[in-house]
Amino acid sequence: MTDETYRSRLLVRALRREPVERTPVWLMRQAGRYLPEYRAVREQAGGFLQMIWNPQYAAEVTLQPVRRFGVDAAILFSDILVPLNAMGMRLEFDERGPVLPEPLREQRDVDALEVVDPRETMPYVGEALRLVRAGLPQETALIGFCGAPFTLAAYAIEGGTSKQFAHLRRTMYRDTPAFNALMDKLAAQVAAHLRYQIECGAEAVVLFDTWAGSLARPDYLRYSAPWSRRVVRDIAGLAPCIAFAGESDHLLEDLVQLGADAISLDHRTSLAQAFTRTRESVALQGNLDPAALFASPADVARRTHALLSEVDGRPGHVLNLGHGVFKHTEPASVAAFVNAAKEHVATGHLS
Ligand code: CP3
Repeated sequence: MTDETYRSRLLVRALRREPVERTPVWLMRQAGRYLPEYRAVREQAGGFLQMIWNPQYAAEVTLQPVRRFGVDAAILFSDILVPLNAMGMRLEFDERGPVLPEPLREQRDVDALEVVDPRETMPYVGEALRLVRAGLPQETALIGFCGAPFTLAAYAIEGGTSKQFAHLRRTMYRDTPAFNALMDKLAAQVAAHLRYQIECGAEAVVLFDTWAGSLARPDYLRYSAPWSRRVVRDIAGLAPCIAFAGESDHLLEDLVQLGADAISLDHRTSLAQAFTRTRESVALQGNLDPAALFASPADVARRTHALLSEVDGRPGHVLNLGHGVFKHTEPASVAAFVNAAKEHVATGHLS
Protein backbone atom coordinates (compact mmCIF):
# COMPACT_ATOMS: atom_id res chain seq x y z
CA MET A 1 0.00 0.00 0.00
CA THR A 2 1.40 3.44 -0.92
CA ASP A 3 1.61 6.24 1.65
CA GLU A 4 -1.09 8.14 -0.21
CA THR A 5 -3.46 5.16 -0.12
CA TYR A 6 -2.80 4.66 3.58
CA ARG A 7 -3.39 8.35 4.33
CA SER A 8 -6.67 8.29 2.43
CA ARG A 9 -8.08 5.43 4.56
CA LEU A 10 -9.41 7.31 7.57
CA LEU A 11 -10.78 4.15 9.18
CA VAL A 12 -7.43 2.41 9.46
CA ARG A 13 -5.75 5.55 10.76
CA ALA A 14 -8.44 6.18 13.37
CA LEU A 15 -8.19 2.55 14.55
CA ARG A 16 -4.48 3.17 15.10
CA ARG A 17 -5.40 6.32 17.03
CA GLU A 18 -3.65 8.61 14.55
CA PRO A 19 -5.14 12.10 14.12
CA VAL A 20 -7.60 12.25 11.21
CA GLU A 21 -9.17 15.12 9.25
CA ARG A 22 -12.67 13.93 10.21
CA THR A 23 -14.20 10.98 12.05
CA PRO A 24 -14.66 7.94 9.80
CA VAL A 25 -18.14 6.41 9.73
CA TRP A 26 -19.65 3.06 8.78
CA LEU A 27 -22.57 0.98 10.11
CA MET A 28 -22.80 -2.57 11.33
CA ARG A 29 -25.27 -4.45 9.07
CA GLN A 30 -25.05 -1.63 6.55
CA ALA A 31 -25.92 -4.17 3.84
CA GLY A 32 -29.33 -5.64 4.47
CA ARG A 33 -33.06 -5.84 4.02
CA TYR A 34 -33.70 -2.14 4.68
CA LEU A 35 -32.15 -1.45 1.24
CA PRO A 36 -34.39 -2.13 -1.81
CA GLU A 37 -31.31 -2.92 -3.93
CA TYR A 38 -30.33 -5.62 -1.38
CA ARG A 39 -33.81 -7.17 -1.50
CA ALA A 40 -33.57 -7.28 -5.30
CA VAL A 41 -30.27 -9.19 -5.24
CA ARG A 42 -31.56 -11.52 -2.52
CA GLU A 43 -34.57 -12.33 -4.70
CA GLN A 44 -32.35 -13.03 -7.70
CA ALA A 45 -29.94 -15.19 -5.67
CA GLY A 46 -32.79 -17.16 -4.10
CA GLY A 47 -31.72 -16.80 -0.47
CA PHE A 48 -29.32 -15.41 2.09
CA LEU A 49 -26.73 -18.22 2.02
CA GLN A 50 -26.90 -18.29 -1.78
CA MET A 51 -25.73 -14.64 -1.75
CA ILE A 52 -22.85 -15.44 0.60
CA TRP A 53 -21.67 -18.45 -1.40
CA ASN A 54 -21.64 -16.53 -4.70
CA PRO A 55 -18.75 -14.01 -4.77
CA GLN A 56 -20.47 -11.79 -7.39
CA TYR A 57 -23.62 -11.42 -5.31
CA ALA A 58 -21.65 -11.03 -2.06
CA ALA A 59 -19.44 -8.33 -3.59
CA GLU A 60 -22.42 -6.51 -5.07
CA VAL A 61 -24.33 -6.22 -1.77
CA THR A 62 -21.12 -5.31 0.08
CA LEU A 63 -20.65 -2.38 -2.31
CA GLN A 64 -24.28 -1.17 -2.23
CA PRO A 65 -24.08 0.92 0.98
CA VAL A 66 -20.73 2.38 -0.12
CA ARG A 67 -22.33 3.59 -3.37
CA ARG A 68 -25.51 4.85 -1.74
CA PHE A 69 -24.11 6.53 1.39
CA GLY A 70 -20.36 7.00 0.85
CA VAL A 71 -19.45 5.26 4.11
CA ASP A 72 -15.73 5.06 4.92
CA ALA A 73 -15.63 1.27 5.09
CA ALA A 74 -17.16 -1.76 3.43
CA ILE A 75 -17.70 -4.88 5.54
CA LEU A 76 -17.68 -8.16 3.65
CA PHE A 77 -21.16 -9.57 3.21
CA SER A 78 -21.17 -12.92 5.00
CA ASP A 79 -22.23 -14.24 8.40
CA ILE A 80 -20.48 -15.29 11.60
CA LEU A 81 -22.04 -18.76 11.28
CA VAL A 82 -20.50 -19.56 7.89
CA PRO A 83 -17.30 -21.06 9.41
CA LEU A 84 -19.41 -23.40 11.63
CA ASN A 85 -21.00 -24.68 8.44
CA ALA A 86 -17.55 -25.16 6.85
CA MET A 87 -16.52 -27.12 9.97
CA GLY A 88 -19.30 -29.62 9.30
CA MET A 89 -22.44 -28.23 10.99
CA ARG A 90 -25.67 -27.94 9.02
CA LEU A 91 -26.84 -24.31 8.79
CA GLU A 92 -30.15 -22.84 7.66
CA PHE A 93 -31.78 -19.43 7.85
CA ASP A 94 -35.53 -18.96 8.21
CA GLU A 95 -37.76 -16.02 9.22
CA ARG A 96 -36.69 -16.41 12.86
CA GLY A 97 -32.99 -16.24 12.02
CA PRO A 98 -30.26 -18.89 11.97
CA VAL A 99 -31.00 -22.55 12.70
CA LEU A 100 -28.37 -25.25 13.26
CA PRO A 101 -30.53 -28.39 13.23
CA GLU A 102 -27.79 -30.63 14.62
CA PRO A 103 -26.46 -28.76 17.66
CA LEU A 104 -23.43 -29.97 19.61
CA ARG A 105 -24.37 -31.39 22.98
CA GLU A 106 -21.67 -33.91 23.91
CA GLN A 107 -17.96 -34.49 23.75
CA ARG A 108 -18.31 -36.78 20.73
CA ASP A 109 -20.17 -34.03 18.82
CA VAL A 110 -17.22 -31.74 19.54
CA ASP A 111 -14.79 -34.46 18.46
CA ALA A 112 -16.57 -34.71 15.09
CA LEU A 113 -16.11 -31.00 14.41
CA GLU A 114 -13.19 -30.36 12.12
CA VAL A 115 -10.86 -27.35 12.04
CA VAL A 116 -10.64 -26.61 8.31
CA ASP A 117 -8.46 -24.59 5.97
CA PRO A 118 -10.51 -21.56 4.85
CA ARG A 119 -8.70 -21.46 1.49
CA GLU A 120 -10.13 -24.88 0.64
CA THR A 121 -13.51 -24.77 2.34
CA MET A 122 -14.51 -21.09 1.95
CA PRO A 123 -12.78 -19.86 -1.24
CA TYR A 124 -15.85 -17.71 -1.99
CA VAL A 125 -14.86 -15.49 0.97
CA GLY A 126 -11.46 -14.68 -0.52
CA GLU A 127 -12.90 -14.23 -4.00
CA ALA A 128 -15.60 -11.84 -2.74
CA LEU A 129 -12.99 -9.78 -0.85
CA ARG A 130 -10.89 -9.43 -4.00
CA LEU A 131 -13.92 -8.36 -6.05
CA VAL A 132 -14.97 -5.83 -3.40
CA ARG A 133 -11.50 -4.29 -3.16
CA ALA A 134 -11.40 -3.91 -6.94
CA GLY A 135 -14.77 -2.10 -6.85
CA LEU A 136 -14.06 0.22 -3.90
CA PRO A 137 -12.87 3.81 -4.04
CA GLN A 138 -9.25 4.14 -2.90
CA GLU A 139 -10.20 5.86 0.37
CA THR A 140 -12.74 3.23 1.46
CA ALA A 141 -11.35 0.59 3.81
CA LEU A 142 -12.33 -3.09 3.58
CA ILE A 143 -13.30 -4.90 6.78
CA GLY A 144 -13.37 -8.65 7.41
CA PHE A 145 -14.94 -10.30 10.47
CA CYS A 146 -15.59 -13.44 12.44
CA GLY A 147 -17.67 -14.44 15.46
CA ALA A 148 -15.77 -14.73 18.74
CA PRO A 149 -15.35 -18.32 20.00
CA PHE A 150 -17.89 -17.85 22.82
CA THR A 151 -20.64 -16.50 20.55
CA LEU A 152 -20.00 -19.27 18.01
CA ALA A 153 -20.15 -21.83 20.82
CA ALA A 154 -23.49 -20.35 21.91
CA TYR A 155 -24.97 -20.93 18.43
CA ALA A 156 -23.31 -24.35 18.01
CA ILE A 157 -24.63 -25.65 21.34
CA GLU A 158 -28.08 -23.98 21.32
CA GLY A 159 -28.71 -24.63 17.62
CA GLY A 160 -29.92 -21.05 17.11
CA THR A 161 -30.64 -17.82 18.90
CA SER A 162 -31.76 -18.18 22.51
CA LYS A 163 -32.88 -16.04 25.42
CA GLN A 164 -31.64 -18.13 28.33
CA PHE A 165 -28.91 -20.24 26.70
CA ALA A 166 -29.75 -23.19 28.94
CA HIS A 167 -27.87 -25.78 26.84
CA LEU A 168 -24.84 -23.52 26.61
CA ARG A 169 -24.78 -22.86 30.35
CA ARG A 170 -25.24 -26.55 31.20
CA THR A 171 -22.34 -27.48 28.95
CA MET A 172 -20.13 -24.67 30.29
CA TYR A 173 -20.74 -25.50 33.92
CA ARG A 174 -21.29 -29.28 33.92
CA ASP A 175 -19.24 -30.54 30.99
CA THR A 176 -16.37 -28.06 31.10
CA PRO A 177 -13.91 -30.39 29.30
CA ALA A 178 -16.24 -30.61 26.28
CA PHE A 179 -16.82 -26.84 26.39
CA ASN A 180 -13.07 -26.18 26.56
CA ALA A 181 -12.40 -28.59 23.70
CA LEU A 182 -15.03 -26.82 21.58
CA MET A 183 -13.59 -23.40 22.42
CA ASP A 184 -10.08 -24.56 21.48
CA LYS A 185 -11.29 -25.70 18.06
CA LEU A 186 -13.31 -22.53 17.52
CA ALA A 187 -10.40 -20.26 18.50
CA ALA A 188 -8.18 -22.03 15.95
CA GLN A 189 -10.86 -21.72 13.24
CA VAL A 190 -11.60 -18.06 14.01
CA ALA A 191 -7.91 -17.08 13.92
CA ALA A 192 -7.43 -18.95 10.62
CA HIS A 193 -10.52 -17.26 9.19
CA LEU A 194 -9.34 -13.78 10.14
CA ARG A 195 -5.84 -14.43 8.80
CA TYR A 196 -7.32 -15.68 5.52
CA GLN A 197 -9.47 -12.54 5.14
CA ILE A 198 -6.47 -10.30 5.85
CA GLU A 199 -4.45 -12.20 3.22
CA CYS A 200 -7.27 -11.61 0.73
CA GLY A 201 -7.39 -7.85 1.30
CA ALA A 202 -9.20 -7.09 4.59
CA GLU A 203 -7.51 -4.02 6.12
CA ALA A 204 -9.22 -4.32 9.50
CA VAL A 205 -11.26 -7.04 11.20
CA VAL A 206 -14.13 -7.20 13.69
CA LEU A 207 -14.43 -9.97 16.27
CA PHE A 208 -18.15 -10.17 17.14
CA ASP A 209 -18.86 -11.48 20.66
CA THR A 210 -22.57 -10.74 20.47
CA TRP A 211 -23.53 -12.81 23.53
CA ALA A 212 -20.59 -11.86 25.80
CA GLY A 213 -22.77 -9.35 27.65
CA SER A 214 -25.12 -12.12 28.80
CA LEU A 215 -22.35 -13.27 31.14
CA ALA A 216 -21.57 -11.87 34.57
CA ARG A 217 -18.02 -10.59 34.79
CA PRO A 218 -16.42 -13.67 36.44
CA ASP A 219 -18.03 -15.97 33.85
CA TYR A 220 -16.91 -13.71 31.00
CA LEU A 221 -13.34 -13.88 32.30
CA ARG A 222 -13.53 -17.65 32.71
CA TYR A 223 -15.55 -18.78 29.67
CA SER A 224 -15.02 -16.23 26.87
CA ALA A 225 -12.10 -13.83 27.30
CA PRO A 226 -9.19 -16.35 27.25
CA TRP A 227 -10.15 -17.64 23.80
CA SER A 228 -10.84 -14.19 22.34
CA ARG A 229 -7.47 -13.07 23.67
CA ARG A 230 -5.84 -16.04 21.94
CA VAL A 231 -7.43 -15.02 18.63
CA VAL A 232 -6.37 -11.37 19.01
CA ARG A 233 -2.81 -12.45 19.81
CA ASP A 234 -2.78 -14.75 16.79
CA ILE A 235 -3.50 -11.90 14.35
CA ALA A 236 -1.53 -9.17 16.16
CA GLY A 237 0.36 -6.91 13.76
CA LEU A 238 -1.48 -8.19 10.66
CA ALA A 239 -4.41 -5.72 10.66
CA PRO A 240 -6.20 -3.63 13.31
CA CYS A 241 -8.80 -5.59 15.24
CA ILE A 242 -12.11 -4.21 16.58
CA ALA A 243 -13.62 -6.16 19.50
CA PHE A 244 -17.42 -6.01 19.65
CA ALA A 245 -19.30 -7.33 22.67
CA GLY A 246 -23.06 -6.83 22.93
CA GLU A 247 -24.55 -5.09 26.01
CA SER A 248 -21.18 -5.14 27.71
CA ASP A 249 -20.88 -1.93 29.73
CA HIS A 250 -19.97 -4.09 32.74
CA LEU A 251 -17.08 -5.62 30.79
CA LEU A 252 -15.48 -2.54 29.24
CA GLU A 253 -12.29 -2.59 31.34
CA ASP A 254 -11.93 -6.35 30.69
CA LEU A 255 -12.40 -5.89 26.95
CA VAL A 256 -9.35 -3.61 26.94
CA GLN A 257 -7.34 -6.60 28.20
CA LEU A 258 -8.13 -8.58 25.03
CA GLY A 259 -5.40 -6.55 23.33
CA ALA A 260 -7.53 -5.44 20.38
CA ASP A 261 -6.90 -2.05 18.76
CA ALA A 262 -10.49 -0.88 19.20
CA ILE A 263 -13.61 -1.65 21.21
CA SER A 264 -17.08 -1.26 19.75
CA LEU A 265 -19.51 0.19 22.30
CA ASP A 266 -23.25 -0.08 22.33
CA HIS A 267 -25.49 2.89 23.05
CA ARG A 268 -25.85 2.08 26.75
CA THR A 269 -22.25 3.13 27.41
CA SER A 270 -21.29 6.81 27.60
CA LEU A 271 -18.69 7.41 24.92
CA ALA A 272 -17.04 10.30 26.80
CA GLN A 273 -16.76 8.20 29.97
CA ALA A 274 -15.50 5.25 27.95
CA PHE A 275 -12.48 7.28 26.81
CA THR A 276 -11.68 7.87 30.49
CA ARG A 277 -12.45 4.30 31.57
CA THR A 278 -10.13 2.90 28.88
CA ARG A 279 -7.48 5.57 29.63
CA GLU A 280 -7.43 6.39 25.91
CA SER A 281 -5.41 3.19 25.39
CA VAL A 282 -7.62 1.81 22.60
CA ALA A 283 -9.73 3.30 19.83
CA LEU A 284 -13.49 3.33 20.42
CA GLN A 285 -16.22 2.62 17.91
CA GLY A 286 -19.86 3.63 18.22
CA ASN A 287 -22.37 4.28 19.46
CA LEU A 288 -25.65 5.76 18.25
CA ASP A 289 -28.66 3.65 19.28
CA PRO A 290 -29.75 1.81 16.10
CA ALA A 291 -33.35 2.64 17.08
CA ALA A 292 -32.46 6.37 16.93
CA LEU A 293 -32.52 5.93 13.15
CA PHE A 294 -36.33 5.74 13.44
CA ALA A 295 -36.25 9.48 14.22
CA SER A 296 -36.63 12.00 11.37
CA PRO A 297 -33.52 12.63 9.26
CA ALA A 298 -33.15 16.11 10.82
CA ASP A 299 -33.31 14.61 14.32
CA VAL A 300 -30.81 11.88 13.35
CA ALA A 301 -28.42 14.61 12.17
CA ARG A 302 -28.81 16.47 15.50
CA ARG A 303 -28.17 13.30 17.52
CA THR A 304 -25.11 12.50 15.41
CA HIS A 305 -23.62 15.96 15.93
CA ALA A 306 -24.30 15.67 19.68
CA LEU A 307 -22.47 12.33 19.83
CA LEU A 308 -19.48 13.69 17.92
CA SER A 309 -19.38 16.78 20.14
CA GLU A 310 -19.16 14.46 23.12
CA VAL A 311 -16.01 12.89 21.65
CA ASP A 312 -14.74 16.37 20.88
CA GLY A 313 -12.12 15.37 18.32
CA ARG A 314 -10.21 12.93 20.55
CA PRO A 315 -8.07 10.65 18.37
CA GLY A 316 -9.17 7.06 18.03
CA HIS A 317 -12.89 7.35 17.37
CA VAL A 318 -14.83 5.56 14.61
CA LEU A 319 -18.47 6.52 14.35
CA ASN A 320 -20.93 3.63 14.11
CA LEU A 321 -24.18 2.43 15.65
CA GLY A 322 -24.21 0.57 18.93
CA HIS A 323 -25.44 -2.55 17.09
CA GLY A 324 -26.62 -3.45 13.56
CA VAL A 325 -29.09 -1.48 11.42
CA PHE A 326 -32.69 -2.63 12.00
CA LYS A 327 -34.73 -4.07 9.13
CA HIS A 328 -37.37 -1.29 9.06
CA THR A 329 -34.88 1.60 9.03
CA GLU A 330 -35.40 4.20 6.31
CA PRO A 331 -32.37 4.66 4.04
CA ALA A 332 -32.88 8.46 4.36
CA SER A 333 -32.06 8.25 8.07
CA VAL A 334 -28.87 6.31 7.39
CA ALA A 335 -27.94 8.99 4.85
CA ALA A 336 -28.59 11.69 7.48
CA PHE A 337 -26.29 9.86 9.93
CA VAL A 338 -23.43 9.50 7.42
CA ASN A 339 -23.78 13.04 6.04
CA ALA A 340 -23.87 14.60 9.52
CA ALA A 341 -20.66 12.72 10.37
CA LYS A 342 -18.93 13.95 7.24
CA GLU A 343 -20.04 17.55 7.83
CA HIS A 344 -19.22 17.64 11.52
CA VAL A 345 -16.49 20.06 12.50
CA ALA A 346 -14.68 19.15 15.69
CA THR A 347 -14.13 22.12 17.97
CA GLY A 348 -12.07 20.36 20.60
CA HIS A 349 -8.84 18.42 20.62
CA LEU A 350 -7.89 18.77 16.96
CA SER A 351 -8.56 22.40 16.20
O1 CP3 B 1 -23.43 -5.54 6.60
C1 CP3 B 1 -22.82 -6.24 7.44
O2 CP3 B 1 -22.75 -5.94 8.65
C2 CP3 B 1 -22.07 -7.46 6.98
C3 CP3 B 1 -22.72 -8.72 7.05
C4 CP3 B 1 -23.09 -9.37 8.36
C5 CP3 B 1 -24.28 -10.12 8.51
N1 CP3 B 1 -24.26 -10.73 9.72
C6 CP3 B 1 -25.32 -10.23 7.50
C7 CP3 B 1 -26.65 -10.73 7.87
C8 CP3 B 1 -22.39 -9.48 9.56
C9 CP3 B 1 -21.09 -8.81 9.98
C10 CP3 B 1 -23.13 -10.35 10.39
C11 CP3 B 1 -22.68 -10.77 11.74
C12 CP3 B 1 -23.57 -11.59 12.57
N2 CP3 B 1 -24.42 -12.60 12.19
C13 CP3 B 1 -23.62 -11.51 13.98
C14 CP3 B 1 -22.76 -10.62 14.84
C15 CP3 B 1 -23.19 -9.21 14.86
C16 CP3 B 1 -24.46 -8.96 15.63
O3 CP3 B 1 -25.46 -8.61 14.99
O4 CP3 B 1 -24.43 -9.09 16.86
C17 CP3 B 1 -24.56 -12.45 14.43
C18 CP3 B 1 -24.98 -12.69 15.86
C19 CP3 B 1 -25.06 -13.14 13.27
C20 CP3 B 1 -26.03 -14.27 13.24
C21 CP3 B 1 -27.25 -13.89 12.50
N3 CP3 B 1 -27.33 -13.74 11.13
C22 CP3 B 1 -28.53 -13.64 13.04
C23 CP3 B 1 -28.90 -13.68 14.51
C24 CP3 B 1 -29.38 -13.35 11.95
C25 CP3 B 1 -30.86 -13.15 12.00
C26 CP3 B 1 -31.24 -11.80 12.43
C27 CP3 B 1 -31.52 -10.93 11.24
O5 CP3 B 1 -31.13 -9.74 11.30
O6 CP3 B 1 -32.15 -11.41 10.31
C28 CP3 B 1 -28.59 -13.38 10.77
C29 CP3 B 1 -29.03 -13.09 9.40
C30 CP3 B 1 -28.31 -12.00 8.68
N4 CP3 B 1 -26.97 -11.78 8.71
C31 CP3 B 1 -28.90 -11.07 7.78
C32 CP3 B 1 -27.87 -10.27 7.27
C33 CP3 B 1 -27.95 -9.18 6.24
C34 CP3 B 1 -30.36 -11.03 7.39
C35 CP3 B 1 -30.53 -12.10 6.33
C36 CP3 B 1 -31.59 -11.88 5.30
O7 CP3 B 1 -31.34 -11.20 4.29
O8 CP3 B 1 -32.65 -12.46 5.50
